[in-house]
Amino acid sequence: MKNLDLYSDEIAKCRVCNEKLSKIIDFGSQPLGNGFLGKSEFKNEFFFPMKLGFSEKSKMIQLFHQPEPERMFHDEYAFFSSTSKYMSKHFEDFSEFVISSGYLEFKNPFVIELGCNDGILLKNFALAGIKHLGIEPSVNVAKEANKNGVNTINEFFSEELAKRILNQYGKVDAFMAANVMCHLPKISDVVRGIKILLKDKGVVIFEDPYLGDVIKKTSYDQIYDEHVFLFSAISVNYLFNLHGMELIDLYPQKTHGGSMRYVLSKKGAYKPSERVFETIKNEKILGLDNLEKFFEFSKKVEKSKHNLITLLQELKDTGKVIAGYAATSKSTTVLNYCGIGQNLIDYICDTTPIKQGKYSPGMHIPVVSHNYFINNPPDFALLLAWNHSEEILEKEKNFINRGGSWITHVPEVKII
Ligand code: TMP
Repeated sequence: MKNLDLYSDEIAKCRVCNEKLSKIIDFGSQPLGNGFLGKSEFKNEFFFPMKLGFSEKSKMIQLFHQPEPERMFHDEYAFFSSTSKYMSKHFEDFSEFVISSGYLEFKNPFVIELGCNDGILLKNFALAGIKHLGIEPSVNVAKEANKNGVNTINEFFSEELAKRILNQYGKVDAFMAANVMCHLPKISDVVRGIKILLKDKGVVIFEDPYLGDVIKKTSYDQIYDEHVFLFSAISVNYLFNLHGMELIDLYPQKTHGGSMRYVLSKKGAYKPSERVFETIKNEKILGLDNLEKFFEFSKKVEKSKHNLITLLQELKDTGKVIAGYAATSKSTTVLNYCGIGQNLIDYICDTTPIKQGKYSPGMHIPVVSHNYFINNPPDFALLLAWNHSEEILEKEKNFINRGGSWITHVPEVKII
């Protein structure tokens, strides 16, 4: 275990408003969500203290500590967006949404995507002949994006990079991001950079896992090193208001088990839609601006942990073989927080070749191919990619036909 002493609660201030954070949940010592590793790397595995905090001023839910970005987004980043057919379709729809939104100028529109991964969204703009630019800090995925015909810069975004982009490419109609903004600890610097790049009528369109869904479903596995923030409409509006911008629309999404797509512009450029007021009103009813509500959430998370360990242990005690289905980053939180290792889960299968042959972060469960799962079907499979359950249950009908059963932990622990 390394570097735990680098961090201290005393310095934990909100990254948006600089006020002290209130602690909601302590997940203990956690490895990197995407830190799949070989046996020889076990000894030097990186861990950090993962605690969830809330700022009563900005209403922003966030991690107390986050490992340096370079540890997470590097030349061997293991997450390729295009591995899921469902996500490819989602991003095709996202591009159609933006192209037909009326926010792009008719002549020579220009769009940017922050964290374009392997180009899953921007390739649709490239195909439509729209001027575009991807910004992606991980070398291997940025290379893949360029291979996919997407013009990509391999750098971390900042106000300084925004100024360089402005000089070289000019202002943008739409600045997009999907499952990226919640990763960025220096969020104020990022928003300043975005504002520099926006045309007067330009918009920011981004989506991220939605706090409202996490609270409703007790899906605490959305919390891991990369997700430094969990946004609500209230907190996103607060953040952009500080920079002369505002929320003008939003659209709930099914992705990642419940996300929100936010549309923002410079203040006064557009009239905010009724949906914005309605959603903020509902969030206040749900208590997403209320510390007490998050203490309730914390109790539910503890109960979920207890129920999952109990169920797996009971099955194991009767000699059942249990596999994890999909080596997702969010499963790292569940497995490490609940202390689930090879004592309870025999293996995890995953379709991503660079994860196969490695071990899960922290708990070191072997990651095997999907073929292994087909050839060695377990009695039970824990749906670690529960957010893709529709797609998975549909394509794995044979698993059930051969006598297997699914286990899920969201929204509650149960055998499906
Ligand atoms: P995520 O999108 O929830 O982070 O999950 C992505 C991981 O799940 C990635 O490693 C690929 C894996 N996966 C499978 O192995 N099989 C599947 O059917 C799906 C949808 C994902």
